[in-house]
Amino acid sequence: MTCFGLCLGGKASPPHNRVVEIDEEISTIENARVYSYRELRAATEDFCPVNKIGKGGFGSVYKGRLRDGKMAAIKVLSVESKQGVKEFLTEIKVISNIEHENLVKLYGCCAEGDHRILVYNYLENNSLSQTLLGGAHSSLQFSWITRTKICIGVARGLAFLHEEAQPYIVHRDIKASNILLDKDLTPKISDFGLAKLIPADLTHVSTRVAGTLGYLAPEYAMRGQLTRKADVYSFGILLLEIVSGRCNTNKRLPIEEQYLLERAWRLFKKGELIQLVDALLGDDFDVDDACKFLKVSLLCTQVMPKSRPSMSTVVKLLTGEMQVDDEEISEPGMLSDLVSLRNQKNTSSGSLSTGSGKQVDSSSSANTTATHGTMTFTTIDDRKS
Ligand SMILES: Nc1ncnc2c1ncn2[C@@H]1O[C@H](COP(=O)(O)OP(=O)(O)OP(=O)(O)O)[C@@H](O)[C@H]1O
Ligand SMILES: [Mg+2]
Repeated sequence: MTCFGLCLGGKASPPHNRVVEIDEEISTIENARVYSYRELRAATEDFCPVNKIGKGGFGSVYKGRLRDGKMAAIKVLSVESKQGVKEFLTEIKVISNIEHENLVKLYGCCAEGDHRILVYNYLENNSLSQTLLGGAHSSLQFSWITRTKICIGVARGLAFLHEEAQPYIVHRDIKASNILLDKDLTPKISDFGLAKLIPADLTHVSTRVAGTLGYLAPEYAMRGQLTRKADVYSFGILLLEIVSGRCNTNKRLPIEEQYLLERAWRLFKKGELIQLVDALLGDDFDVDDACKFLKVSLLCTQVMPKSRPSMSTVVKLLTGEMQVDDEEISEPGMLSDLVSLRNQKNTSSGSLSTGSGKQVDSSSSANTTATHGTMTFTTIDDRKS
């Protein structure tokens, strides 16, 4: 392990009592390595653009080979007002102690000077948004069996974050680009706990912290009520996307088909849910299973958070341990409702975009960020729902 004295070398040498605090913090991090900036620079060939594998709301991600030979995804957080080292490490401690087959593994971090960098295991098959939903760009085939495995895997990962992690974690940004795939197409939820690492008052990440519109639960988007059930809602949208092989919003389609959830509800009422299944699957799917998955997605997206199942129940419904009761499915909380509600409120600042995958930056979501930014791990509301 890198000596932390080295890590703090350079610009930001803390006063003595701060060093003691940080040393204490470091000593409690058992499962995460603290990397020197030098090592990460070497791993990425000085953060060479050739090694850049993507850019998200939190910063740029580079592929790199660590000194021990392991490949890593190195995420350089682009936060202007850098978070304190101690707070950063406290959060890392929580995330690094979490291990689950369906969660991306955090190897460690670098908190040297102004740099805040996270080092994850590298996943070979990119994200669901770039592969399954990425159109012709990907050569990967997603059979029904593979899709089933992905849906159940993500549900298990979320159930773990919600019900087994201590303290429990609300992800807040479940969406296709945050589901990464390893070489066997096992899904891994990424960026869990990341919102907590970003100071809530930073405007340029507020959109990220607030989530992504097509996946946002109405109560969270409109009233800032963040509970685990907001993740359940987002999972419901993701489930629809995986079964149908399309993005939740597609403005290029005829108006009545633009919003996936609206279309799912309409087809459910007509008893024609099966029409939503990805045509690319041909006959390679189980009709009952596919309908069941789509019904679970409707349950997950119910307007009332209380009506949505917990993630452990979702796992049971998807695996067939529990049966879906059609009677429990009523109209889901939909994007179009959200937009009209938003228009009615007609608040003066901000805008609410309905574009595919766009982030919200409305006044209400900015409030959400400000007032609930620190509620990622434990929310009081959630205990009631
Ligand atoms: N552990 C990883 N292994 C392989 N690729 C990764 C890993 N983590 C991230 N990536 C890739 O890096 C890119 C950027 O990821 P990042 O999480 O920064 O942005 P995003 O998921 O697109 O958006 P968001 O900021 O909302 O999370 C994505 O294309 C993702 O596939
Ligand atoms: Mg991401």
